[in-house]
Amino acid sequence: MSYAAIFCLLLLLSATSVVGTVDGNDSTTECVSQEELASVKAEMERRVDQLHSQLHYRQNVTVGILKDHCSSTNTGGAVETGDTVFMSTVFNITQNDADIIAYLEKVNQTINERLDSLEDSINSNDNKAGSFLNPAHNCSHILHQHPQATSGHYWVQSSPGYVVKMFCDMERVCGCDEGRGEGGGWVRVANINMTRPNENCPAGFRKVTDSGKTMCGGQSSRCISTTFSSQGLLYSRVCGKIIGYQFGRTNGLLQYISDNTVSIDTSFVDGIVLTHGSPRAHIWTFVAGHDQISTINEDCPCNSNSFSGTLPPYIGNDYFCDSAHTVNNQPPLSYLTNDPLWDGAGCVSGSCCTFNSPPWFCKNLSAPTTDAIELRICLNDGIDDEDVLFEIVELYVQ
Ligand SMILES: *[C@@H]1O[C@H](CO)[C@@H](O)[C@H](O)[C@H]1NC(C)=O
Ligand SMILES: *[C@@H]1O[C@H](CO)[C@@H](O)[C@H](O)[C@H]1NC(C)=O
Ligand SMILES: *[C@@H]1O[C@H](CO)[C@@H](O)[C@H](O)[C@H]1NC(C)=O
Ligand SMILES: *[C@@H]1O[C@H](CO)[C@@H](O)[C@H](O)[C@H]1NC(C)=O
Ligand SMILES: *[C@@H]1O[C@H](CO)[C@@H](O)[C@H](O)[C@H]1NC(C)=O
Ligand SMILES: *[C@@H]1O[C@H](CO)[C@@H](O)[C@H](O)[C@H]1NC(C)=O
Ligand SMILES: *[C@@H]1O[C@H](CO)[C@@H](O)[C@H](O)[C@H]1NC(C)=O
Repeated sequence: MSYAAIFCLLLLLSATSVVGTVDGNDSTTECVSQEELASVKAEMERRVDQLHSQLHYRQNVTVGILKDHCSSTNTGGAVETGDTVFMSTVFNITQNDADIIAYLEKVNQTINERLDSLEDSINSNDNKAGSFLNPAHNCSHILHQHPQATSGHYWVQSSPGYVVKMFCDMERVCGCDEGRGEGGGWVRVANINMTRPNENCPAGFRKVTDSGKTMCGGQSSRCISTTFSSQGLLYSRVCGKIIGYQFGRTNGLLQYISDNTVSIDTSFVDGIVLTHGSPRAHIWTFVAGHDQISTINEDCPCNSNSFSGTLPPYIGNDYFCDSAHTVNNQPPLSYLTNDPLWDGAGCVSGSCCTFNSPPWFCKNLSAPTTDAIELRICLNDGIDDEDVLFEIVELYVQ
């Protein structure tokens, strides 16, 4: 192996320490192949000798190898991906020998720290399913082998040869009503919580602070999108919750109701839409109705007996609908932060914001997939008139 190749391997390993978090601030995703770890360990010893005999080596070293693994999915701005952090670093070692030695020693130190932490990770988990040396196929696999496994971070196999440390929820989560053992084993793929200090919105979403709430809003008259990767894991169920807010005069599903050619790809709703794949397959829609009590087709479908609209066939019954406006008139052009949407609370008598038992949704897909989950905020009018915003996005797959 050439010295340059060794160098790249070492840098690859050290790069894994800056991959960042995949599902929010609380979970560090570590992504490195077992093969790489073994190669690096073997090369470490040889490198000590070579360090002193290869001082003529001169090259800028840039590394972008991590790109394909720990994916660059935007999980809400909580994430600094490995490639953007690492690619921005150009190592200039075209200097003198002393600098090269100093630099290599620094790399050596980083790598040793990294190996230590990986070894800790390996030792603390022994060889159980979900350890670095014995990554699981998915979280339910771990629970199946170790029924007493607790929720926490485990190593799972993502693309072949690569392992990722992800958060597994081993308890019953969401609205999926099985008991422990059948219900647990969910992998968290999104965890945006705008109440955390310094949490950012996904790129393209407007960060809004009003009445002490920080929220992520949409853009005028269109859908804006972000995606959450499953890190290559196969899943056939999705569950989670979104807590949002209404601004102004949201129109529910009126856009589709007044023109039934409007497709899932456009603003068929004022709300938030979860889909996967291309063409988009629907998972769940979070509808922001106009108000809780009037009898018009821009309210929630279950609001009144006089609702006469036809719902988009592509959403079926897989939606929540809620409004924060409790009076039968135009909502004010302001953030209605007193009443969160899709939390199943704050409904006036007779309204239906508890349809489908929010806040947790649970959806079985028609076939297993590794698709990323796409989240869109869709609006049919300008944000001076209406907006739909989220504060919490928590998504799991199984
Ligand atoms: C986010 O992570 C950083 C680094 O681990 C930590 O210092 C900080 O306290 C965390 N913030 C929150 C709100 O958890
Ligand atoms: C690399 O780091 C290890 C562990 O800290 C140390 O024993 C070794 O001497 C270092 N090698 C070089 C060439 O700095
Ligand atoms: C090394 O980096 C410097 C500064 O970015 C650049 O000017 C130089 O051309 C690079 N050398 C090589 C061989 O790429
Ligand atoms: C890289 O090193 C060369 C040689 O010492 C130096 O001339 C050059 O300015 C350095 N480039 C950067 C970007 O530091
Ligand atoms: C969001 O973060 C806040 C502050 O860290 C925490 O108290 C709260 O439980 C979190 N909520 C969710 C749903 O994760
Ligand atoms: C999870 O892993 C188990 C054990 O390998 C496997 O039987 C099951 O099909 C996997 N589930 C999915 C959704 O791939
Ligand atoms: C969804 O899938 C789970 C696990 O396969 C099953 O127990 C449950 O009955 C399914 N729910 C529906 C509504 O099909």
